[in-house]
Amino acid sequence: MSSKRETPLRVAVLASGRGSNLQAIIDAIEAGQAKAKIVAVISNKKDAAALERARKHGLPDLFVDPKPFAGRPDGREAYDRALLEVLEKNDVDLVLLAGYMKIVTAVLVNAYANRMMNIHPSLLPAFPGLDVQKKAIEWGCKLSGCTVHFVTEGVDEGPIIIQAAVPILDNDTPETLAARILVQEHKIYPCAVQLFAEGRLRVEGRHVFIDGA
Ligand code: GRF
Repeated sequence: MSSKRETPLRVAVLASGRGSNLQAIIDAIEAGQAKAKIVAVISNKKDAAALERARKHGLPDLFVDPKPFAGRPDGREAYDRALLEVLEKNDVDLVLLAGYMKIVTAVLVNAYANRMMNIHPSLLPAFPGLDVQKKAIEWGCKLSGCTVHFVTEGVDEGPIIIQAAVPILDNDTPETLAARILVQEHKIYPCAVQLFAEGRLRVEGRHVFIDGA
């Protein structure tokens, strides 16, 4: 899939909310720990804090309004075509979903097959979807964590790149558990970006092999 490269990897981040994972990636790039360049931060929410973070770091930010696409039978695909145009115009190599609260369609998934990642706050395949910290506590799990995976059409189903585990404590609330998981998210997402930038991720079916690991 990706090969060794001379120029920095061109990354776009799609985010809908507070953007702490975006921040972790910005910080890793600025610290030289991830050899990449963020060429676009895109949101479907006008007031997403992620866009503000991008502006603070002088990164191009863009709000793509979903409203004009709503109600059309092909609205979700049409929205993704608009995103794809931006990604292609910016020569984006890798797309990162970071708290992007919109299901991506085949339009983006196919154009960026094995070149689009997502971070999810559970140890997939346990607890895909929403409210996953609450579900893990309710289930009585002793461990939870986070997963970086490539994006396929099934929500939270793509090949797993990296996972990190954390304990679930007896007195945990969804909020305390989410905070413990988030610390790990901020470590493994930049790490996955760097592995991709180094051309070390090899996908075979459901398996992602890390060359030289
Ligand atoms: C994170 O918990 C991530 O795993 C999930 O959405 C949350 C986004 O947080 N997909 P942030 O916007 O990166 O702070």
